[in-house]
Amino acid sequence: ARLAILLSGRGSNMLALVKAVQNGVLKGLAEVVVVFSNKPDAPGLELAAALGCPTAALPSQGRQRREYDAEAAALLQQYRPDFIVLAGYMRILSPAFIQPFAGRILNIHPADTRQHQGLHAYEWAFENQLPETKITVHLVDEGLDTGPIILQETVDLRGASTLEEVERRGLAVEHQLYARALAGLIKN
Ligand code: GRF
Repeated sequence: ARLAILLSGRGSNMLALVKAVQNGVLKGLAEVVVVFSNKPDAPGLELAAALGCPTAALPSQGRQRREYDAEAAALLQQYRPDFIVLAGYMRILSPAFIQPFAGRILNIHPADTRQHQGLHAYEWAFENQLPETKITVHLVDEGLDTGPIILQETVDLRGASTLEEVERRGLAVEHQLYARALAGLIKN
């Protein structure tokens, strides 16, 4: 399957996916056809280029959402992706983006999307001293973290006394789960 990975930030999930394609559960199943960002200076974009991935950027700053999303979708369609893989892509997608890829857009959210949506999910788990949280891979619809759940995994947070520790444990799970979820989808 052809993957387009979209990011706005540091790209640790992108890195985990590229490694899974090169040498892990996605080997022989998937290829990364483009790493795309709405932020031309995203550290994750530079990392992707260093890993040898094709990259593309289209700045979203100051752009009207519908127009931007249509343009981004058209750009991505040139790569003929089977899946659009959101990996810290900090935008809510409008129908102009979703329609051309309906049912083929995935997101990873660092909480149970039935309990927490939007930003600051690790802060939420930490501040509420949750004994565990869930990482969620889900299909993207027009809501904020609302689409059908593909796969979840629990993160044990007992004894995690700092936000950094909560994030470290959560990200370790994220970096396994996303590739596994994609492998499952591709095989079916
Ligand atoms: C991750 O926690 C992901 O779950 C959320 O945004 C963060 C992106 O981190 N959607 P990274 O850029 O992949 O390191």
